[in-house]
Amino acid sequence: MAPNLLLLPFLLLILLSSATTTSSSPKKTLKEKLSHLHFYFHDVVSGRNATAVPVTKPAASSQPFSAFGVITIMDDLLTERPDPNSQPVGRAQGIYAGAAQDELGFLMAMNLAFTAGKYNGSVLSVLGRNPPLHPVREMPIVGGSGLFRFARGDALARTHWLDFTTGDAIVEYNVHVLHY
Ligand SMILES: *[C@@H]1O[C@H](CO)[C@@H](O)[C@H](O)[C@H]1NC(C)=O
Ligand SMILES: *[C@@H]1O[C@H](CO)[C@@H](O)[C@H](O)[C@H]1NC(C)=O
Repeated sequence: MAPNLLLLPFLLLILLSSATTTSSSPKKTLKEKLSHLHFYFHDVVSGRNATAVPVTKPAASSQPFSAFGVITIMDDLLTERPDPNSQPVGRAQGIYAGAAQDELGFLMAMNLAFTAGKYNGSVLSVLGRNPPLHPVREMPIVGGSGLFRFARGDALARTHWLDFTTGDAIVEYNVHVLHY
């Protein structure tokens, strides 16, 4: 008797889950499309108008060049052209963290929050590895919202300009994304 009673919640759960699957609305054929986005990312770490701010110090074991342990919070401007005064298209909001000990290699965890045109209000989420001194860095797009819901894709980053003294940089992004 007791074992059967224990099974009851599981049986109910199975019944409920099959009920929800069978009662779901008839399937619409959603067409997936591939979009290409091209923009420039302005990482300003110097001066009073910095948009990327380190919030931790390097780990004691860090090589001077690796920034291992440094977590930077950013709200970086995205523009249509390399000129920071060109048409703004959004912000890159999130963190990059020094996660490599033997070179400069960041973990990037950021949301590309678009503010222009038809993508205004839509967001792409990026989670990937970014060794910024490499000529091309590839980072996965792991999801999105708004017009980009269910998105997946790939971002290629190339440094357009880098000031080695201040660390300020302008990075060209080419993003290919599949979404509905
Ligand atoms: C910060 O931005 C303001 C307004 O755009 C500008 O006038 C000022 O020169 C900037 N300061 C620095 C240090 O870049
Ligand atoms: C983007 O959307 C916001 C909120 O709906 C609106 O205030 C803003 O004017 C829009 N920007 C552009 C460039 O369309």
